[in-house]
Amino acid sequence: MFIENIEISGFRNFKNKKFFSFTNSKNLIHGSNGSGKTTILEAIYILGFGRSFLNVKKDELLNNESDEFFINSSVNRNQLEFKISASLNKNFSLFLDGEKTGIPGIGRKFFPLFFSSSDYVSLISSRSSLRKLFDRFIFGIENIYSSELIEYKKVIRNKTYLLKHNPDPAHLKGWNKLLAEYILKITRKRIDFIRKINNCVKDKYNSGIEIRYTPSSSDFFYNDEFKPDMVLSVLEGVLEKEILYKNPVVGTHLDKYEIFLNERSLRLYSSGEKKLNLLFIYLAYIDMFLSVREEYPVFLVDDYDIAMDDENTEVLMSNYPAMQVIATSVRNNKNFDSTIKLKH
Ligand SMILES: Nc1ncnc2c1ncn2[C@@H]1O[C@H](COP(=O)(O)OP(=O)(O)OP(=O)(O)O)[C@@H](O)[C@H]1O
Ligand SMILES: [Mg+2]
Repeated sequence: MFIENIEISGFRNFKNKKFFSFTNSKNLIHGSNGSGKTTILEAIYILGFGRSFLNVKKDELLNNESDEFFINSSVNRNQLEFKISASLNKNFSLFLDGEKTGIPGIGRKFFPLFFSSSDYVSLISSRSSLRKLFDRFIFGIENIYSSELIEYKKVIRNKTYLLKHNPDPAHLKGWNKLLAEYILKITRKRIDFIRKINNCVKDKYNSGIEIRYTPSSSDFFYNDEFKPDMVLSVLEGVLEKEILYKNPVVGTHLDKYEIFLNERSLRLYSSGEKKLNLLFIYLAYIDMFLSVREEYPVFLVDDYDIAMDDENTEVLMSNYPAMQVIATSVRNNKNFDSTIKLKH
């Protein structure tokens, strides 16, 4: 898959309609600080996930002087072209070929993979950011996963509400039954995914890398015992504690991930080492994506040349010649097939 072009209007610094075309290989968007490079990647990302990769509200994305934005794009997949759009006027909507759709609908056809050079340091040390990253990874290769996460969130929200306002054990046990099913499904998928991506990254990129996944209960292992009844009995075992804390203490929203390099947390390495090894995890993911979907995601890399020396920067450019990359930098670079220069 690749994105052929994008039209942006009323979005961040692009007040008036702007149109950008991309090639299906290596694209570079370059220009001075504040010229709108990250904004273009953000617009592409919103088409895939209905939200920004930055922690902003939708109306903060509206240009200061606009009261609506739209993003229109043409995407090409196996020589078939289709249109993906996003707009915000009163509400936010996503469209696929003119029909309103949701994120799972888009995810089957278009999957932007975003790597940010400005926040990978905090990403590596944040449990919730890593959880979101790996959830998006799993969703990319298993579309139904996003619906399971949404259902899980609804159930855990209801349970939390009860724990705070009406902690009736009989009622809570009813919610636990439903919760156990989702915990089982999601935890299994996470265990399985992390095992596979670890194998892939070790085999191909760096044998010292290991992502460690710790489910919220130490009883959750991928073995024959890991069944709904077992999850339910763990949930029942902590019910009293949960009523006391007025909060769930077991659930997939509490799962932890940490990345290790040679048995030492990646948090403790240099900035360039962090970036390179995180990039290896992304590359391993691209391999998995390719083998499951027989296509590449669209790889968006913001400030691609920050914090890495020339040799390491080449890792990105030389791997996957057939994948569309849209990278940004303040500098131009001759190694790209196509460049877009932005002016303030
Ligand atoms: N809602 C908004 N309305 C108008 N302008 C905005 C809005 N949000 C952000 N901007 C401005 O848009 C400009 C483009 O920001 P962007 O982050 O895309 O720049 P960039 O080219 O990636 O810069 P850098 O090289 O510093 O990363 C900035 O000047 C920013 O202040
Ligand atoms: Mg930027």
